Amino acid sequence: MQSNHIIETRGIVKTFGGLRALDGVDIKVQRGSLTLLIGPNGSGKTTLINVIGGVYKPDAGQVIYEGEDITGLPPHEIYHRGIVRTFQIPRLFRNLIVTENLATAKRGNPGENVYLAPLKSRWIDFETKTIRESMITELKLKILHMWNRKSSELSGGQMKLVEIGRSLMAGARLVLMDEPAAGVNPTLAHQIFAMLKEMTRGLGITFLIVEHRLEIAAEYADYVIAMARGKVISEGKPNEVMTDPVVVKSYLEG
Ligand SMILES: Nc1ncnc2c1ncn2[C@@H]1O[C@H](COP(=O)(O)OP(=O)(O)OP(=O)(O)O)[C@@H](O)[C@H]1O
Ligand SMILES: [Mg+2]
Repeated sequence: MQSNHIIETRGIVKTFGGLRALDGVDIKVQRGSLTLLIGPNGSGKTTLINVIGGVYKPDAGQVIYEGEDITGLPPHEIYHRGIVRTFQIPRLFRNLIVTENLATAKRGNPGENVYLAPLKSRWIDFETKTIRESMITELKLKILHMWNRKSSELSGGQMKLVEIGRSLMAGARLVLMDEPAAGVNPTLAHQIFAMLKEMTRGLGITFLIVEHRLEIAAEYADYVIAMARGKVISEGKPNEVMTDPVVVKSYLEG
């Protein structure tokens, strides 16, 4: 029987020099959920999504994706399996317009190769299909009106929307996000989370999101996992976890 969990970590340990950034982390993420990863600064949240995304190899433990052990696979292999990592500062091609940024995320395109992506000659070869799909993605994300704007001219929040669009174009099944609401005005931050929530429902995509701004994110979350000092200290429904005395104490201790 297929598990309900798209991703699971078992006993993940990751050390940096003498520091144990992850100290035996077991998490399970429900397929199609919006799951938040919270915890004070330095608790290991970013390190954990980096281990899942293949940026770091763990010193011990396993990452199981759709029932398969993907521990230590290189990032591009993991990306090809449908796990996409987004960044606090979106990594877009600054000189390309929004539609080009989306089109280059499509698998099988010449743009999948970051060195070829900005070449005009390659761009001309792009299929009409990819452009159509890019524009449909823009419609979904309510950024169709900025289809021909250079990404360097976008606000931080708009760049995040484009980055989410790139995940969709790449056919992501699991999106790992580091603080999508950081530096974004509250109205747009709510819109972003509302869209992510819609994508879990409509497209069955799973989001595992590191986020500090719980006053914005909590209402959209299906599940919350709290970490402190490299360990999971609490998990469950947003309200339960946020009021869990162990979690409250961990934030007070910093
Ligand atoms: N590349 C690295 N080299 C050395 N130490 C690192 C590295 N990455 C993270 N650390 C350390 O590992 C610990 C966990 O860091 P991590 O970035 O995962 O925390 P975080 O929970 O994401 O914190 P924040 O909320 O501030 O983003 C911290 O003590 C951090 O200094
Ligand atoms: Mg972090």
